[in-house]
Amino acid sequence: MNEPRFPNDEGEDAWMVVQVSADEHWNAYHDIRRAVLFEARGLIGYEANHPDDRRDEHFPLLLLLENTPVGAARLDLMDDATACVRTVAIRAECQGKGYGRMLMTGLEKFASQHGVERLLVNAARGAVGFYGALGWTLVEAGGENPVLTKELRTRP
Ligand SMILES: CC(C)(COP(=O)(O)OP(=O)(O)OC[C@H]1O[C@@H](n2cnc3c(N)ncnc32)[C@H](O)[C@@H]1OP(=O)(O)O)[C@@H](O)C(=O)NCCC(=O)NCCS
Repeated sequence: MNEPRFPNDEGEDAWMVVQVSADEHWNAYHDIRRAVLFEARGLIGYEANHPDDRRDEHFPLLLLLENTPVGAARLDLMDDATACVRTVAIRAECQGKGYGRMLMTGLEKFASQHGVERLLVNAARGAVGFYGALGWTLVEAGGENPVLTKELRTRP
């Protein structure tokens, strides 16, 4: 497969973050997001054909473990070297094992390679501690989705 890949720094392929383009990866991307962000929260109406997933400046990403998809996220490039992190999700049975950290490590590498210097996220309330553990800073605590930011200092 010729998808852009962002392997880990250990020079191994045990895990990697890929930019989604192959059909099987689109299917996994939607399956993970539907299950984790909708079904597990009792929500319906997930849209697998939402135009936001196909915009030029939006990058759907998938975490592969030994080629098996376990997590998904999207990086939306904005102005001023800023990007928004959207819909971060790790399969329920894989949560709490460090895979979310791997996904964000690959996402940050991808973002840096696209000139991003600052990440933003509108976080789920229950996920604020996750971003905190990864070095993000809370900039807006109120509201349903607290806003956090992270400066990316290392350039590729
Ligand atoms: C939030 C989520 C992406 C985290 O992924 P994960 O694989 O479970 O997290 P990891 O195991 O990689 O945890 C990394 C670190 O964050 C911490 N952490 C993870 N989830 C946390 C939470 N909900 N609250 C507080 N800390 C958390 C871990 O303790 C770990 O810290 P450590 O490395 O210092 O020990 C995942 O649990 C998930 O998909 N949750 C449901 C959907 C969701 O809330 N998505 C976020 C939308 S903004």
